[in-house]
Amino acid sequence: MLETRGLTAINRVNLSRPVALALNDGIIRADRSFFDFGCGRGTDVAALVGMGIPATGWDPVHNPAAERSRADVVNLGYVVNVIENPQERREALRQAWQLSTKVLVIAARLDWDIKAEQAVPFSDGVITAKGTFQKFFSQDELQGWVEECLGVQADAAAPGVFYVFRLATDREAHLARLPHRRQASAAAPPSFTLDRNRDVLCQRRASRGASSRRATRIAAPGGQSVGACR
Ligand SMILES: C[S@@+](CC[C@H](N)C(=O)[O-])C[C@H]1O[C@@H](n2cnc3c(N)ncnc32)[C@H](O)[C@@H]1O
Repeated sequence: MLETRGLTAINRVNLSRPVALALNDGIIRADRSFFDFGCGRGTDVAALVGMGIPATGWDPVHNPAAERSRADVVNLGYVVNVIENPQERREALRQAWQLSTKVLVIAARLDWDIKAEQAVPFSDGVITAKGTFQKFFSQDELQGWVEECLGVQADAAAPGVFYVFRLATDREAHLARLPHRRQASAAAPPSFTLDRNRDVLCQRRASRGASSRRATRIAAPGGQSVGACR
């Protein structure tokens, strides 16, 4: 079943939604280490490294040899929804939380995504037309599940995305900053943060000896690439 789960990792050309959101919210930043638990093909990690953020990732299918490291910010992005065994799903959440010293970012697919006609019920979710498992949560269900598993409050960052803070002081600082930050970047799509950092990405690329300012890709750990500079 693990190999099948690996099929759920898409080739991203932009940052994933939870990572873009956490960058905009000042959760992920250059003075904080970042670890991507279930990093898939590694595009978020590659893009963050390109921005000067100390980022690493592990994935049981796509990057199994990597170390599972503690980090200030740990991302568990769209992982729990692909795990068909409820006990293993809880374990993945707890392991990711154990690795995070400041904030856990957790994202899962929501039930408005479900395409019922292509799905066969399985466990507490469905098998999709691709043959992969998906557990679709409601927003309240996801929040309740995270809080019940970890015994701490989870704050909604967006539909299907929650932040869990280790320190009450960090949580309070985040909540106090939020209205200001959200006004500044209202309705930003996932590509927004990457676009906003395009100059930095291009400069880093150029300083590594790229022959042209029109460099177009940043290599991801697994050899994939992410669109970075026009
Ligand atoms: C939908 S992909 C998401 C990948 C990446 N986080 C992203 O947003 O692009 C789900 C990933 O979870 C990984 N995965 C499956 N079981 C896992 C587990 N028990 N712990 C961590 N990752 C797991 C899969 O290999 C797959 O790469």
